[in-house]
Parts: sequence; structure tokens; C-alpha cells
Amino acid sequence: MASVTFEHIHKAFGSFVAIEDFNLHIAAGEFVSLLGPSGCGKTTTLRMLAGLEHPTSGTISVGDRVVNDLPPGKRDIAMVFQSYALYPHMTVAQNIEYPLKKRGVARAERRQQVQRAAALLQIEPLLDRKPRQLSGGQQQRVALGRALVRNPAAFLLDEPLSNLDAKLRAHMRAELIELHQRIGKTMVYVTHDQLEAMTMSDRIAVLDKGTLQQCDTPHEIYHRPVNAVVAGFIGTPAMNFISGTLRAESARLLFESGSLSLSLPRHLVREEALAAGDTAITLGVRPEDVGLTADGLPAIAKVVEPTGHESIVFYDLSGHKMVGRVGPDIRLKAGDAVRLTLNSNKLHFFHAGTGHRLNTDLEPIAATAAPGRVA
Ligand SMILES: Nc1ncnc2c1ncn2[C@@H]1O[C@H](COP(=O)(O)OP(=O)(O)O)[C@@H](O)[C@H]1O
Ligand SMILES: [Mg+2]
Repeated sequence: MASVTFEHIHKAFGSFVAIEDFNLHIAAGEFVSLLGPSGCGKTTTLRMLAGLEHPTSGTISVGDRVVNDLPPGKRDIAMVFQSYALYPHMTVAQNIEYPLKKRGVARAERRQQVQRAAALLQIEPLLDRKPRQLSGGQQQRVALGRALVRNPAAFLLDEPLSNLDAKLRAHMRAELIELHQRIGKTMVYVTHDQLEAMTMSDRIAVLDKGTLQQCDTPHEIYHRPVNAVVAGFIGTPAMNFISGTLRAESARLLFESGSLSLSLPRHLVREEALAAGDTAITLGVRPEDVGLTADGLPAIAKVVEPTGHESIVFYDLSGHKMVGRVGPDIRLKAGDAVRLTLNSNKLHFFHAGTGHRLNTDLEPIAATAAPGRVA
């Protein structure tokens, strides 16, 4: 088990910059996800760590050792690919055994290790089958088994669940969490699925267009996104964004966007962000922070999507589209007039130009904040 460190990593393909000044330290035993939209540079980052791609500049270390000039086989790292890459002509046992055979491990020892990995992954009854006789989830486990027997310092997983159906994905997610708890190995996990990253990771590194946006715990990433890009990428349905202006007026903040006007406590936003006059901002509101109250802002429910345990409701709020969640006992239908309250303690303020977060964030994030009132 070892730590992994990226320092000032740049990667260009010709004139195209895929990764720009990437810095990240992953502690030994940590589960870190690289999360971001397709094409943001996740696989490239992982391949550089594995030794399959060379950084244009910067250093990559595993433990105390700089691995830039080491070939993949010497890095003590096991990578599980999205495609699993099993050998079709070999049985499950032979597939798992292969890295040990290549390393010259004795036959009896190989047998024992394959058995141990198979037991851990609950694939013992499949050991004599060929990959084509396995389901996607079973193939996935074999690929993991092959990585496990190598007993590497770190595991790299590139979208390992993306070929599975939703139910199996949820199941494998739980299995991977459990596996990590049991073996305690460093894991670097690539995904574009924010739910996977949120549920599995100790920390999430959010990438966008080759640049690391934020690396923090799922809780911090969700509640204190450093910018609008991170805020918009995490959470389903996505955070609501309203462009408008913010002005300080004695103890209050006035947010205005078209005919929508909100009076908010001044302490929510950092003083230096409140320049003289209006500040152009993007207001962010998570769907769970859009509530219904008798004295709230008038809005119309446009679309109601019941999911069973809640409904996702799309509102029109003074010409702004807002999505909210309501409990199963609230029966709304399209066209209903409602009154909305935005939880002022949970509002996110982003600079309209830079997208940077402007909240004061002085207080710890309460597990259940009392709903604030927006006049
Ligand atoms: N070998 C390559 N040659 C040129 N461009 C590449 C190469 N590999 C990746 N890219 C580009 O680098 C960017 C990041 O790719 P990748 O790391 O695969 O993204 P992700 O895994 O986040 O979807 C993409 O725009 C991709 O087209
Ligand atoms: Mg990829």
C-alpha cells in the first residue's frame, strides 16, 4: 500500500493540452475518485500513473519513489480497465493466475492465491468457465481478481462499472466499498458518474477541461463547491442556477433577476465580494432547498415527476425555471399555483465571471439546517 502524488503534471497531445498543472496527493489506503465529464482528462491522468502514457512535464510518485521513468510493470500498480480486457481463450482461473505466472510464482502458491481472490470476490464456482460464459458483473469481478492477486501498492480503476446495468452497478458499488474496507488498499477510481464518486470515495477530485477544480470529501464537494462548475456537476437533479445581481443594503443583500427579487441576510456573502454597486452573480439552489410554504414566492408547477419516495417538480418562478423535491404526501399536478421558499442557509453564490464561490462559509455545515426564510 502506498501514497500517490502528482506534481505539476502537464500533458499535451500535439498542440492539445489534455491536463494542465495537475497537483494531487492521495494518501496510502485512500479511495480517491477522479470525476468529470467525458473528455476532461480522467483516463489520461490514470494512464500516466500506470505508465501507459508519459507526462509532458511534472512528476508522479508512488510512495517516495518518482515513477516517471519506470515502465508500467515496475510501478507496483494494477489497473482495471473499463473493457475488463480478459483473455478470451483462458478460463477464469487462468485469467486470474496470469500475472502470477508471468512473475514466476510457483504453481502451488498460484493456486492458493487464485482461490483466495475467488473467495473474496465470490466467484469460486466460475473458475473453470471462459469469459464469454460470464455476465458483465462476473467478468468485472474476474478483472478485479486478476488485479488483486498482484497485491499492488495501488489499484487504478477506469470506469469499471459503466458496462453494467443499473441494478448490478449499484450492487458492484457496494461490493467495491466493502472490498476497499477489507483490503484497505490505495484506490484511484475514474468515473463520470457523480453518484459513484459520492457513494464510494474518501475524497473526490473533480476535473473539468484538464484542470483540477476541487479535491475534497463528498460532503464538502456537495455542500461547499468551490465554483459553479463543481456545483453544477454534483447532484441530481442538478443545482438550479439563476443569473442576477447582488447588492448590499445595510444588513441585507438584495438579489435581483428580472422580476424576481430576494432579500437575504448580509452575512451569507464575503464582504470583499460586495463591491460598491451591483455584483453580477449566479445564485445556486439545490432542489432539496426549494420548499413549499404558505407565505413563499408565487410559482407554478409545470411538470411533476413522481419517483415513489418523492416527486421532482419543475416550477416556473417569476420566469425562472426551478427544480425542487417534494415528499410523497404532497400531491402536486402540472398547473398548480404554489408558493416556494428557498433555504437561505443553503444558497450558493458564484461570481458571474469567474464562477468562484462567494459564500462566507464561516459556519460548519449543519446536518439539518433550519429552513431560512426568503422574503
Ligand atoms: N492519444 C491521444 N491523442 C490525442 N488526444 C488524446 C489522446 N488521448 C486522449 N486525448 C484527448 O484528451 C482529452 C482527455 O481524454 P481522456 O483522458 O480519455 O478523457 P476522459 O477519460 O475524462 O473521458 C480528450 O479530449 C481526448 O480526445
Ligand atoms: Mg475515460
